[in-house]
This record gives sequence, C-alpha cells and structure tokens, in this order.
Amino acid sequence: MKAFQKIALFLALLIALSACRGQPFEDPPRFVQPNMHYQEKFRYQQENPFFADQRASRLPVEGTVARGNLQTDHEYYEGLDADGEYVTSIPADIDRAFLVRGKERYDIFCTACHGAAGDGEGIISEYGLIAPTFHSDEAREWEDGRIYSAIYRGYETMKSYRHKIPVEDRWAIVAYVRALQISQDADEDRIRQLGVELNEIEVAEAPEE
Ligand code: HEC
Repeated sequence: MKAFQKIALFLALLIALSACRGQPFEDPPRFVQPNMHYQEKFRYQQENPFFADQRASRLPVEGTVARGNLQTDHEYYEGLDADGEYVTSIPADIDRAFLVRGKERYDIFCTACHGAAGDGEGIISEYGLIAPTFHSDEAREWEDGRIYSAIYRGYETMKSYRHKIPVEDRWAIVAYVRALQISQDADEDRIRQLGVELNEIEVAEAPEE
C-alpha cells in the first residue's frame, strides 16, 4: 500500500471513530429550519387541563357509529340468521368479479394453511400443522355462514381474520371456497355441461393415503 493511501485510510478511520463518542447530547437538537416540527397542539394520551377528566384524547359521544359501520344487517355482518343459525346462502350478489376478488383474497389469507386448492395441503402441512380440507363430504355440507364464521370469529385453533378482511371480502372468499369445492367435485354430467370432452381429460392418480 502506498504511503498516501495509508494516510487516507488513517484519516478516514479517525473521522469515523471521532463521530461516535458514545455520549448522548443533553441539549435538544438545534433546528436551523424548524418547519412545522413544533405546533401548539395536544397529542394523544397527553394531559389537557381544559377538560374535567384532564384527558386530551376525548371519548366519542355515546352511541357514535363510524360512517359505514352501522352494522344492523345481522346476516351480512355476523353470518347468522334471526334464530342465530348459520345463514345457508351468501347474502351478496355473486358475479365473476366477486369470485375473482375472492380468489385473490383467498390466495393471500388462506392458502398458507388450507392450500391453494383448498385441500388442506398448505405450506404449514410441511411443518406438521394441519388445517382441514374443504373437499370432505362434511365440508361440502357446511352452510355458507359457517365458512364465513370461521373467517369472522375464528374456529378452535384458527384465529379470526375479521380485522384483516373486510366484510365484503369475507363473503367473496366464501364464494371462492364454494367454487373450489365444486371444481374438485364435478361429476361427469357437470363436466359435460361445461362442454369438456371426458376422454380428453387426464385423470391424475389419487394420492396415496
Ligand atoms: C394459520 C393457518 C390458517 C389460516 C391462514 C386459515 N385457516 Fe382456516 N383453519 C385452520 C385450522 C388449523 C383449522 C382447524 C381448527 C381446529 O379444528 O382446531 C381451520 C378451520 C377452518 C374451517 C372449518 C371451520 C368449521 O366450522 O369446521 C374453515 C371453514 C376455515 N378454516 C376457513 C378458512 C378461510 C376461509 C381462511 C382464509 C381467510 C382460513 N381458514 C385461514 C388454519 C388456518
């Protein structure tokens, strides 16, 4: 290494080391241009002597409902009918866009456990965790409201996804789970109805149990 390179390295190290003295400053930092850093306002959780309870954060007036959150439609928001039973059909209009949205949301929120095809073969199954398949006879019998309920309330060891998935997406996912079920359980008549020639379909070997 040439001498001047050594000196340059030495100087660089000196500057770098002198920058960290390990002592926190006692004085507040100086702002050359304070912009709007300091404002006359109360921040959340701060004390405010103006109010009797001294709280700067005010509670909403009793009975306040955030816009768009008046959830009076029990079937739609809870997935339950007037008797508290699971609703049997999806209380929303189902079209292609709705199903596509459901697939997108399902792929994001459910595949890791239930698998892309809904067969319970999600990535977690490689780590010894089990999520149920949607293609059992029992699962095909579930009311739509029961699938909704799993998303909304959670089910046993599955946690609720209500805070991550808004209500219309929950129903879109339910619709997509139904579509998955139909896709894996199509009988010959149904396949013919769709104009598919049976002998042109390659049938995969059933996986070993
Ligand atoms: C982290 C893994 C995980 C994710 C993600 C997950 N689930 Fe589950 N799910 C489970 C497990 C585990 C069970 C079985 C719980 C038990 O029986 O203890 C279950 C059960 C269910 C059931 C059966 C409920 C019943 O009434 O029998 C449904 C329906 C369901 N999940 C739907 C979904 C949907 C829809 C999504 C996506 C929004 C989803 N799950 C996301 C793990 C998951």
